[in-house]
Amino acid sequence: MRFYRDLGLTDFYCRQVEPVAAVDDPKLGRSVAEELAEREGLLQAAIAAAAQSAAETAAQQTNIFGEEPAIKTRKGFSAPPEIAAAVPVEERAAALQLIRDEIGDCTRCALHTGRHSIVFADGSPTARLMFVGEGPGADEDAQGLPFVGRAGQLLNNMIAAMGLKREEVYIANVVKCRPPGNRTPEPEEANTCSPFLFRQIDVVRPQVLVALGATAATYLLGARQPLAGLRGRVHAFRGMSLIVTYHPAFLLRDPRQKKEAWADLQIAMKELGLKAPRQS
Ligand code: URA
Repeated sequence: MRFYRDLGLTDFYCRQVEPVAAVDDPKLGRSVAEELAEREGLLQAAIAAAAQSAAETAAQQTNIFGEEPAIKTRKGFSAPPEIAAAVPVEERAAALQLIRDEIGDCTRCALHTGRHSIVFADGSPTARLMFVGEGPGADEDAQGLPFVGRAGQLLNNMIAAMGLKREEVYIANVVKCRPPGNRTPEPEEANTCSPFLFRQIDVVRPQVLVALGATAATYLLGARQPLAGLRGRVHAFRGMSLIVTYHPAFLLRDPRQKKEAWADLQIAMKELGLKAPRQS
């Protein structure tokens, strides 16, 4: 049954078949065996058609690397704000608070209608390493903090594998309110919210920024490109190094890609002059 569901066939019904095996049916002028063979052929054709339609739908919803739903190309990207003047280290916490105050009880996009909390960020205002995700999920919406659910646990492990503590890095998202059903943010939502993210980045001014997944990479770089072509190297971004890697939620679905993600994090570590801690 699961196999059929995977093919997109969800409605099943039982039809009584006369137990007459290979007896001729005079009305049809052919054997029951022939009729059953024809029915079998029709069923196979229906399954093949459903499989093709399911594959086409999946291809529309998923990028060719099977990572995250592709972002629709209905709208372009808003230009990123000019790089702001550097904020002295001791003023960064207050500067971030000003951004949070400006966001206020935001109603700038449709996401506000379904949110419980605005998920601004977590971590150190003076971090050398910053992670950017896509948008809050249910756990984040409930707690008001980014990456506190299952994907967050994996991110914590990734940070620890780099020899860092979560409190030492800064974590934010492209959108600050949970998209319904954890869908990918719509371009108008991401374009409305991302100027605040750019301002957070400029205040924290990390040495290295890690984009987690295609949505973060897309809205940071302002271009929709396959993730596989972006990861594995350093991008110059607003005076810092940007590294693109898989989203932890994707790694939970496909743990085989963790090796590739670790290779990306090692690039980030090299940029930061960090060595991986010894495994005990
Ligand atoms: N996924 C994200 O992209 N961000 C979060 O904060 C949590 C899950």
